[in-house]
Amino acid sequence: MEIILKIMLKKGLLSSKDLSRADLLRVFAETEKLLPVARKEKTSNLMKGKVLATLFYEPSTRTRFSFETAMLRLGGSVISNAQMKETSSVKKGESLRDTGRVVSCFADVIAMRHSEAGSVAELAEGATVPVINAGDGANDHPTQGLLDVYTIWREFGRIDGLTIGMVGDLKYGRVPHSQCQYLKNFKKLKFVFVSPDELKMPREIVKELKSCGHEVVETADLDGVIGELDVLACTRIQQERFASEKEYLKYKGVYVVGRLQVADCKKKMIILHPLPRVDELLPEVDSDKRAKYFEQVTNGVAVRMAILNLTL
Ligand code: NCD
Repeated sequence: MEIILKIMLKKGLLSSKDLSRADLLRVFAETEKLLPVARKEKTSNLMKGKVLATLFYEPSTRTRFSFETAMLRLGGSVISNAQMKETSSVKKGESLRDTGRVVSCFADVIAMRHSEAGSVAELAEGATVPVINAGDGANDHPTQGLLDVYTIWREFGRIDGLTIGMVGDLKYGRVPHSQCQYLKNFKKLKFVFVSPDELKMPREIVKELKSCGHEVVETADLDGVIGELDVLACTRIQQERFASEKEYLKYKGVYVVGRLQVADCKKKMIILHPLPRVDELLPEVDSDKRAKYFEQVTNGVAVRMAILNLTL
């Protein structure tokens, strides 16, 4: 099994559809081993001599720093461009494939983010080293989904049978899409999707979850369902994916999770958010012991360490 996963990750991690339940458990086990390094409690030289290139064509704080921290704390090195759109040879008309081929001459592994779905796969076609998708448009964000599912697994010691609420922009949010792709591999989950009608989870994802034997409930009413959730996975309304500011403003602020809402939550449940947050999750929730979104950030470094280690 381990051999199969390693062979697969030799190509990198382009899609959250690429990992099976067994693969996920293997990644979680590897992540557990590396968590003390991510928490700065231990040091490591696992990636000594290796170079990671981070190519970001779209804004990021956490994801890029998280990949870079993971590589650096494992003793490797990083070359980085956070403004690929403005300052790379894209400006001169270079294709993604060529960029992939060229950067492969410098780095041992590439992490890339772009605003267009499928763009990371395109660069990977030219690359001769593993490529990790750090978010491609509204499509997928495999390492974020992975760290979310890892956080759930760590908190509950299991995933089977949980009731998972996802609230926010389920249409354009690549994070809920990735979460579903991983979670579908577990057993007997209840998905509660909370969004305005226009921002519902894509139909093909809902269909797939049902065909895997999961229950799916869709509603616009957060208050009516918040009390039954084991996990409340919040997301931001994805402003940059809307056709106009006017269109975005229709949905901005439609859901707010504050102390009032959390008062109705189970005692043993967790609140996740990939961050950045805008107005959908109030800072007054931060001190609640069920709020796990800052822990997620550290878990994200450990998950990326595991992915780098399994890849190289
Ligand atoms: C997410 C992203 O970029 O998709 N952020 C992240 O990677 N932590 C979520 C978002 O931007 O809303």
